Amino acid sequence: HRPSCPAFRLREVAAMYLSSLAVFLLILVVALQGTDPREDYFPYKVPLDPQSTLELSWNVSYLHREVHFQILVKKLQDGLLFGMSDRGGFEDADLAVLWSDGVQSYFADAWSDHDGHLHMDSQQNYKLLKAWSALEGFYLLFKRSFDTCDPKDYRIEDGTVHLIYGILEAPVPSLGAINVSALRRKGLQRVQLLKPDIRIPSLPSDLKTMVIRAPNVSIPGQETTYWCYMTELPDGFGKHHIVMVVVVVTGHPTLCHTSQMFPCHHDSSGIRLFYTASLRPYDAGIMELGLVYTPVMAIPPGESHFGLTGYCTETCTQVALPPSGIHIFASQLHTHLTGRSVETVLSRGGQEKEIVNKDPHYSPHFQEIRMLKKVVSVFPGDVLRTTCIYNTEDRSQATVGGFGIMEEMCVNYVHYYPQTELELCKSAIDLGYLQRYFKLVNRFNDEEVCTCPEASVTQQFASVPWNSLSRDVLKSLYGFAPISMHCNKSSAVRFPVRMAKEGKETIWQPF
Ligand SMILES: *[C@@H]1O[C@H](CO)[C@@H](O)[C@H](O)[C@H]1NC(C)=O
Ligand SMILES: *[C@@H]1O[C@H](CO)[C@@H](O)[C@H](O)[C@H]1NC(C)=O
Ligand SMILES: *[C@@H]1O[C@H](CO)[C@@H](O)[C@H](O)[C@H]1NC(C)=O
Ligand SMILES: *[C@@H]1O[C@H](CO)[C@@H](O)[C@H](O)[C@H]1NC(C)=O
Repeated sequence: HRPSCPAFRLREVAAMYLSSLAVFLLILVVALQGTDPREDYFPYKVPLDPQSTLELSWNVSYLHREVHFQILVKKLQDGLLFGMSDRGGFEDADLAVLWSDGVQSYFADAWSDHDGHLHMDSQQNYKLLKAWSALEGFYLLFKRSFDTCDPKDYRIEDGTVHLIYGILEAPVPSLGAINVSALRRKGLQRVQLLKPDIRIPSLPSDLKTMVIRAPNVSIPGQETTYWCYMTELPDGFGKHHIVMVVVVVTGHPTLCHTSQMFPCHHDSSGIRLFYTASLRPYDAGIMELGLVYTPVMAIPPGESHFGLTGYCTETCTQVALPPSGIHIFASQLHTHLTGRSVETVLSRGGQEKEIVNKDPHYSPHFQEIRMLKKVVSVFPGDVLRTTCIYNTEDRSQATVGGFGIMEEMCVNYVHYYPQTELELCKSAIDLGYLQRYFKLVNRFNDEEVCTCPEASVTQQFASVPWNSLSRDVLKSLYGFAPISMHCNKSSAVRFPVRMAKEGKETIWQPF
């Protein structure tokens, strides 16, 4: 749904006209000595490749809805591919390509099809502005609209963007002759392209820092470990406000993944706190929204797009939030390995009003605490719905909710002020309804699911025969079954919420 795009027929005519022009749009890159890049134009910068031979800088104009990209190629060979795709693959990607045929260099907007073959785009939306050489390398400056209306183009949205890059190591006769699979040096980098336009205040002059690190922990040789470490503040340490937190990482977390089942290293990671005694007007808090960590919420295997939803209901916000409301200013979305998209939406009076945070290209490998573009206020009686979409195509067993990395979560840690006692506002469907589901599945199959009290929900899910009936019924069960609401204080005590028996609530889906 792209309301600002021209009608289809008009667009087709434009595309035909442009494709006849496309060949002339190739821009000859010659300019050698250019002016120095204005560093101050580009507030954001990341290396694209692990060796940092490609450096991307960018800025965002919300007024013109466009991004300016500047790439520094430290040692230019025969060209470069740069672009975006849904999850960082080179298939179905939107690319800006610089290539050399050995004599001249060309730049074009291109796209790759499902098999990774490159095609010239009929609409040239990566607009080359400048290319020049400098001491540190070769610079390429170009811009792209967020949404170009070209169906072949990637739409730049809020949240994670998977950037892809490839380095051409030999001249190619034409764009179509570039074989993406044969590129030796290529990869992806995840960034939040559309950063919020927020001025970060300067740090106070009376800033102090404190490092808290886990003392030389030997990481056990098991799949998932949570390590809690507590340290005491010095005696008489008064109230302060933490204004910044930086993670201190030691050890080799990536190396650890490959040596699973062996104790891999010692780790003294931790955090560095920056704090001040000059108290701010408000205390901030962190609240967990989404699903309770329970196997009751599960994803069948082989699903490309399965959604689970957790609620923070009006009964909870009614008792736990102050009449003046709370104001959410940052959010960290969280799932485990099969999470592909996460969103939290605020409803008021039965209507969805506002997106709190949304990442349609969410990756569990890129979890950031992100400032919101717009602060979202939540009042007593409001509902916060958090929905996660999962892909379990590479799994043969159901993926249940839980703490393990192979289990799933659906959480949004929202950062807000003023702090309240409400620390956790999450749900899961009612267990009794799930047991009815297992009985129903048994009725249509050979009593494969044990409904005896000894069987755990995880065991029960493991024995469900996954066919279209068991999948569809589970999906609709998650849509209509009453939920158990967890409306908890930081002390892990429930709020005295008056709810239907055992805290069950029925949430009616918007459709
Ligand atoms: C982004 O960078 C370009 C090129 O340097 C510059 O012309 C433009 O004014 C910058 N835009 C913003 C919003 O900073
Ligand atoms: C592209 O490269 C891959 C990997 O090197 C190779 O298997 C494939 O045959 C190449 N395709 C073409 C069309 O040359
Ligand atoms: C951490 O502990 C291990 C043994 O548990 C020891 O071999 C190592 O020297 C210690 N490292 C530090 C920095 O204390
Ligand atoms: C909420 O509090 C109740 C009562 O203390 C506890 O049983 C429950 O596990 C808590 N929920 C979560 C998700 O921690």
